[in-house]
Amino acid sequence: MSAVKERKKAAKAVESFTLTLAAKSSNEGFARTIAAAFAARLDPTVEELADIKTAVSEAVTNCVVHAYKNSRGKGEIRIKGQIFDDGRVVFEIKDKGCGMEDVEKCLQPLYTGDPEGERSGMGFTVMESFCDKLKVRSKPEKGTTVVLTKRLGGNV
Ligand SMILES: Nc1ncnc2c1ncn2[C@@H]1O[C@H](COP(=O)(O)OP(=O)(O)O)[C@@H](O)[C@H]1O
Ligand SMILES: [Mg+2]
Repeated sequence: MSAVKERKKAAKAVESFTLTLAAKSSNEGFARTIAAAFAARLDPTVEELADIKTAVSEAVTNCVVHAYKNSRGKGEIRIKGQIFDDGRVVFEIKDKGCGMEDVEKCLQPLYTGDPEGERSGMGFTVMESFCDKLKVRSKPEKGTTVVLTKRLGGNV
């Protein structure tokens, strides 16, 4: 087994939280702040914290504007945060909204499923470039889970 694999396998979650929020734009700022406060335990740089806030809010905004676009203000977003003893922070942002027919297409830079709106189609590209890893699972009519992983310099 490679050294990287071995380290990953051995990594243990040492901190975690789960938060359920109503899918409203007024909760986007709250989710950003919670993500930053949680990651602060790893003693990140100002830049790393800004990256985390931006990536998490892109994922949360997508739940509000895309996942639940036809749900008349109803819908929940579940955010799970974990810190591992190898210095990784992981955020899982999950909705039970409309899901995506074609995840690969949605991940393309500049693709937006809402061309009439004011969207840039750069949300996933931003998440990918501001984090070390982006994973997206989605099923039409079932929902979407976005997993953001960032390795921070500090130690737990
Ligand atoms: N949580 C989600 N549920 C359903 N569709 C989504 C979700 N997140 C993203 N999408 C789809 O992926 C597309 C690309 O997302 P993104 O890169 O953030 O660009 P934008 O939000 O500007 O359209 C969205 O336009 C939407 O069609
Ligand atoms: Mg977006």
